[in-house]
Amino acid sequence: MFFDLTEEHLMIQKAARDFANDVLKPGVIERDEHQKFPAEEIKQMGELGFMGMMVDPKYGGGGMDCISYVLAMEEISKVDASCSVVMSVNNSLVCWGLEKFGTEEQKQKYLVPLAKGEIIGAFCLSEPEAGSDATSQRTTAIDKGDHYLLNGTKNWITNGSTASVYLVIAQTDVAKGHKGINAVIVEKGMDGFVVGPKENKLGIRGSDTHSLMFTDVKVPKANRIGEDGFGFKFAMQVLSGGRIGIASQALGIASGAYELALAYSKERKAFGKPINQHQAIQFKLADMATQIEAARLLCLKAAWMKDQHVNFDRASAMAKVFASKVAMDTTIEAVQVHGGYGFVKEYHVERLMRDAKITQIYEGTTEVQKIVISRSLLA
Ligand code: CAA
Repeated sequence: MFFDLTEEHLMIQKAARDFANDVLKPGVIERDEHQKFPAEEIKQMGELGFMGMMVDPKYGGGGMDCISYVLAMEEISKVDASCSVVMSVNNSLVCWGLEKFGTEEQKQKYLVPLAKGEIIGAFCLSEPEAGSDATSQRTTAIDKGDHYLLNGTKNWITNGSTASVYLVIAQTDVAKGHKGINAVIVEKGMDGFVVGPKENKLGIRGSDTHSLMFTDVKVPKANRIGEDGFGFKFAMQVLSGGRIGIASQALGIASGAYELALAYSKERKAFGKPINQHQAIQFKLADMATQIEAARLLCLKAAWMKDQHVNFDRASAMAKVFASKVAMDTTIEAVQVHGGYGFVKEYHVERLMRDAKITQIYEGTTEVQKIVISRSLLA
C-alpha cells in the first residue's frame, strides 16, 4: 500500500488551505450570524477551479481526481462548512451527475458554466415526506409528449435561491414505483417555479436552504437525465458520490476543531502550566487525532475507489457514517477544551459544533448509511 500524496495533491491541499485562511476566515463569523450567503467567496472558488474539480477540462473542469477533491473539501470545511456544502453539492451531485449521465447537449449547456463556477446548481430530492424514503416522491413529472409537466414541493434544498440549475427528482408513473421516477433539469425563471422561504438553521447558516414549489412547470423532454425511469438510480448513484463530499466536509469540521483545540491548549494555562500538560487534555487530544486519522483514511479510500472506477457505495457510506460521528464528537470535545471561551463565537469551535450536526442528516442520515452498508454486507 502507498500512503503518500503526490506533489499535485499537496499543491491543491495548500491552495485550498491558503484560500480558506486568507479569504474565508475573516468573514465567517459574520456570515454565520446573519445567515449571509458567501456569494463573493463562491465566485472566487469558481475562479480557482474548486467548483468543478473533477470535471473533464473539455467541459470547463479541473480534471482532478477524487482524492484532490477530498483534500480540498477538508481544508475549506475546516474554516467554513457553509462554503464547503455549496462546493460539495455543485461538484459531487450536480457536475458529476451531469457529466456521467447527461447528454452532450446538456453538458454543453449546463455542465460547462457549472464546472467553471459561473453558475451554481442544486439537487432536489427531499420532500416533506420523502427524505430517507426516497421512492415516496409526491412531486410529479407527467409525460406530455414533448415535455414534462412538473408539480410539487421540494424541501431543504441547498443553494435553493442562489442556484441557476436544479436537478429535480420526480414521479412520472406511480404504478412503476422507483422505475417510474425521472430526473429533470429545471432552470431558474421557468414559469411556475417559485423559491420558497429561507430556512433559519442551527448550522451551515451561510448556506442557502429553501423549499421550492413547482406548479405546472413545463420542462422540455430534452432536459430529462438518462432513460425514462432512470431518476431513482440516478439519485442513488449521485448521492453515493456525494457522500464522499459530505464525509470530507465532516472530516474538515473535525480537523478544524481539533487544530483550534490543540493551539488553545498550548496557550491557556491552568494550575500553573499549559492545559496540554494535564493528562485530561492530552487524552482528549489523542482521541481526537486518532478518530480524525481514521475518518481521513476512510474518506481517501472511498475517493481512491471512485478514481479506480470500482463500486464505492459501501465505502462512501462507511466514510460518511464514521466521519460525521467523528465531527460531532470532536467538536463537542473541542468546545470542552476551550472551556468558557468555547461557548462564545470568537473562538470558532461553537460554530463548528453546530455545523457538524447536519453531516449526520443530509445526503442520507446515519441510519440510511447503515442500511446501505448492511445491505452491501448481506448481499
Ligand atoms: N447505485 C445504483 N443503483 C442503486 C443504488 C446505487 N447506489 N442504490 C439502489 N439502487 C437501485 C437498486 O439496485 C434497485 O434497483 P432494482 O430494483 O432494479 O434492483 C433500486 O435502486 C431500488 O433500490 P432499493 O430497493 O435499495 O431502494 P429503497 O427504496 O429501499 O432505498 C435507501 C434505499 C438506501 C434508503 C434510499 O432510499 C436512500 O439512499 N435514501 C436516502 C436519500 C438521501 O440521501 N436523501 C438526501 C437528500 S439530498 C441532499 O441532502 C442534498 C443536499 O442538499 C446536501
